[in-house]
Amino acid sequence: MKDLSQSKTDFIPVIDIGDYLAEDADARDVIASELRHAMENVGFYILDNHGVSIEQIEATLEAVKRFHAQPLEAKMALLGNEHNIGYMAVNTSRSRASQVDTDAVTKPNFVEAFFVKRDLPSDHSDVVAGKLYRPANMWPENLPGFRETILAYCRTMEALCQRMLPLYALALDLPADYFEEPFAEATYSFRMSHYPPAELGEKDQFGVSAHTDSSFLTMLPQGDLPGLEVKLPGHDWRLVKAPHGSIVVNSGDLMRRWTNHRFLSTPHRAINNNPGKDRYAIPFFFDAHVDYPMSCLPTCQGLENPARYEAITYTDYMKWFSRKNYDHVRDKAGTEADDPGVPRTQSVRD
Ligand SMILES: [Fe+2]
Repeated sequence: MKDLSQSKTDFIPVIDIGDYLAEDADARDVIASELRHAMENVGFYILDNHGVSIEQIEATLEAVKRFHAQPLEAKMALLGNEHNIGYMAVNTSRSRASQVDTDAVTKPNFVEAFFVKRDLPSDHSDVVAGKLYRPANMWPENLPGFRETILAYCRTMEALCQRMLPLYALALDLPADYFEEPFAEATYSFRMSHYPPAELGEKDQFGVSAHTDSSFLTMLPQGDLPGLEVKLPGHDWRLVKAPHGSIVVNSGDLMRRWTNHRFLSTPHRAINNNPGKDRYAIPFFFDAHVDYPMSCLPTCQGLENPARYEAITYTDYMKWFSRKNYDHVRDKAGTEADDPGVPRTQSVRD
């Protein structure tokens, strides 16, 4: 086992799930309490002995590099749509929808990305019906092996996220199988990001400016170039120095909302300060089924702590989020002002 205590990760806890994955019953409760501490106080942790091979992480990063090396017109042929899949070009997204003060967002994000969701067949009833966030993915032509590599990664990451759910349930004082129903046919989104080298001296130019995620949880396996910065409660921005092959995990605004603010959704940003080098990132966002109504968890409310929000589904939340953040959705579907029902239930800054 690697000794992560020697690495500079002291401000983000390391959680080793090797014994849990090996079915050690005692380990489960110990790790659940470590997870509770991380989620209530930090909002981030570094997952070690997670069972995802460094070879698969590297192969996925390599596939993402091949995707973005294509001519722009090949990528633009896969332009993003209302399901939040497809290609998003450089400078067409902004971080507007999170808890971070959005008045400070002056520049669009210096990043391009390609998104896929669960790979539904084109004859799936949800696809045929055009159900929002349940599309058939778009795939590039002329990139042999790309789809297989990406789908293998999605399967691996979904399996790991599913394995983490009993730990999250226990961390929230719920029965271990509590999340089985919400996460049956879970929703996931895989974002393949490319950060070109930043122009040195450009003020406020981030790959992704400060934001909180929308997700229940986000997993970010680490390549060999740093770039993620985190602002923990009471601290200034700090670069995350997680070992190559580890997985940085954070919770997002849907987790915070579902847990009535018991679990944090911590601001972070990305910047590629590696001179002359392109950086690639492969975050995997994991959420409940698109139609599952997330109402305040029973162990996160009480007489002194009433539920802050009404129940909301992934679909309703993301309709609001996407109009805020993605120019291509704003162009097609209008701005969040056209969606008055959703923002009323979402308090952006508290
Ligand atoms: Fe993020």
